[in-house]
Amino acid sequence: MSVPEEALRKALSGLLKPEQVTEMKEKNGKVLVTVAVDVPMGEKPAFADQVKTRLREVGGVKDVFVSFAPPPRAAAPPAQAHPLPGVKHVIAVGAGKGGVGKSTVAVNLAIALAQEGMKVGLLDADIYGPSAAIMTGTSEHKAQGDAHQRVVPAMKHGIRIISMAFLLPKDQSAVVWRGPMVGKMVTQLLTGVAWGELDYLVVDLPPGTGDAVLSLSQSVPLSGAVVVTTPQDVALLDVLKAIEMFRAVKVPVLGVVENMAGFTCPKCGTLTPIFLEGAGRKAAERFDLPLLGTLPLDAAVPPGGDRGSPIIVEAPTGGTAQAFREIAKGVRTRVSEIEKEGPGQFNLEWSSGA
Ligand SMILES: Nc1ncnc2c1ncn2[C@@H]1O[C@H](COP(=O)(O)OP(=O)(O)OP(=O)(O)O)[C@@H](O)[C@H]1O
Ligand SMILES: [Mg+2]
Repeated sequence: MSVPEEALRKALSGLLKPEQVTEMKEKNGKVLVTVAVDVPMGEKPAFADQVKTRLREVGGVKDVFVSFAPPPRAAAPPAQAHPLPGVKHVIAVGAGKGGVGKSTVAVNLAIALAQEGMKVGLLDADIYGPSAAIMTGTSEHKAQGDAHQRVVPAMKHGIRIISMAFLLPKDQSAVVWRGPMVGKMVTQLLTGVAWGELDYLVVDLPPGTGDAVLSLSQSVPLSGAVVVTTPQDVALLDVLKAIEMFRAVKVPVLGVVENMAGFTCPKCGTLTPIFLEGAGRKAAERFDLPLLGTLPLDAAVPPGGDRGSPIIVEAPTGGTAQAFREIAKGVRTRVSEIEKEGPGQFNLEWSSGA
């Protein structure tokens, strides 16, 4: 560190207790500080500003990145013994906001992994609108129980699929669920299912609150999370929100997927950037996470999804399908890297040259 850590910590002494500053890193004047403090969500930006102001007063500091860790008493209880012994890796797909393509990524990633020879399950945990079931063409599937009273997943496109859509009466599909009920339902969907042997169980998370993430992480150990973003998210606040959501429950983020990154001409295949070019890379660099892939805005994605034929099945030789295969490779690599690093590792080291 070129700026002494002691000086940085001292600058925060009137604002935070020493034990509330859980991480302090600095490189070339860029400071990464993690604070474990109980601040309501809406007040976090103002609190982060106070931290930034104090740290910027220290000589040599050019930029400050503040991250919030959960205060010790809010830490998630450790997950129980693995309730799904046949499932090797559970991967969550999430985002800081709705509509960025979580379900699209979860579905196509699951199928891409299966096409690589993996045994794969897909859990559609979005009980507000089970779009993964629609995208895989399984929303009409009728759930059956096995001899152990567990629900048998549907099988489609080479993957095993469970969705709330299989269990809810049709007229209840638009039911508004309270947070704790979301969590309970997710746990039931996860553990009450005869998944059998799986290499990967991909979980499509609902938008919004961390309830589903919290109950998921309390029900089963997660190997990691994929964060989906779009280039419009200039401030990167949503990416940070998603990263914080996973950090709070000690789930390592495998990387960032940038979706709808440019327009592919259906006639000539040329890719035209529409929003910010390289926004996904910027997000990945900012938070020092790998960019798992960039997906173009592809006019063939929505109709395929509506028909239950995901793009990777519908147009397997196209650029979007290829991008999904790259993402699947990246996920597998990251999962094995994190496995080697051991549990509880967060990839927040500064990348070289940052
Ligand atoms: N790369 C893409 N190109 C074109 N359309 C896309 C792309 N990715 C997603 N879409 C479309 O955008 C819409 C939202 O995608 P999706 O349902 O996957 O998002 P989501 O993040 O799961 O949304 P929610 O927060 O509601 O769960 C869908 O109609 C989908 O078909
Ligand atoms: Mg969705």
